[in-house]
Amino acid sequence: MPVFELANLTYGYIDGGKKRMILNDLSYQFEEGKLYTILGPSGSGKTTLLALASALDVPEKGQVIYKGNNIKNIGYTKFRRDHMAIIFQKYNLTDYLTALENVEANMMIVHSGKGKDRKQIAYKMLDTVGIVRSKADRRITKLSGGEQQRVAIAKALAKDVDLILGDEPTGALDTATSNEIIDLFKRLAHDYGKTIILVTHSDAVAASSDITLRLKEGKLMREMGGF
Ligand SMILES: Nc1ncnc2c1ncn2[C@@H]1O[C@H](COP(=O)(O)OP(=O)(O)O)[C@@H](O)[C@H]1O
Ligand SMILES: [Mg+2]
Repeated sequence: MPVFELANLTYGYIDGGKKRMILNDLSYQFEEGKLYTILGPSGSGKTTLLALASALDVPEKGQVIYKGNNIKNIGYTKFRRDHMAIIFQKYNLTDYLTALENVEANMMIVHSGKGKDRKQIAYKMLDTVGIVRSKADRRITKLSGGEQQRVAIAKALAKDVDLILGDEPTGALDTATSNEIIDLFKRLAHDYGKTIILVTHSDAVAASSDITLRLKEGKLMREMGGF
């Protein structure tokens, strides 16, 4: 069974009084433990697709299915809170907290864990993404862009979910740092069994994923050959 499935998604916007379709009967099944990228030019509907996949919006037709259950039946809020994490281009961190506190804050929302355990787990998550203890205790504003995105990934990991979505998560980083972050995502997919789906407009990012999909004319197609 696929971990995550988009089934016959249809969605459009009203634009100048006219309906413009963005997703057109789009279907795809995502398997466990793989890093997927979804490639498409600006305006092709990548963010719209992620909004539906993360239950921020609902499709006009079709279903989003997590481990065999329509997320509508799981409950949109429950699905968002307990089963998935999403990472954005801008890291969505709280500036006046330390890296550790950012991760801990996210854990409090989902875990009942005691303070001391929580702290140890948060340090461990940060260590997993390459943020050592001395950096974990620093305020977010004292970390580089790449380090901040690592903290955002640790925050996602602290939720301990199987599905991680990303909207251009390396879009604000230079090429070398972007490569490091993609390698990290790959390790999380392969070593920890996470299913990771990143949208990107970067061919280089797409080239280093396990499976590249292209969003074209409202449908997702697997990219073969060149990648
Ligand atoms: N709320 C909205 N109302 C009308 N059109 C929108 C809205 N949001 C996005 N669009 C349009 O839908 C298309 C797809 O947008 P988006 O999903 O953000 O694409 P991408 O993330 O691939 O750049 C774009 O042409 C965009 O202008
Ligand atoms: Mg976008």
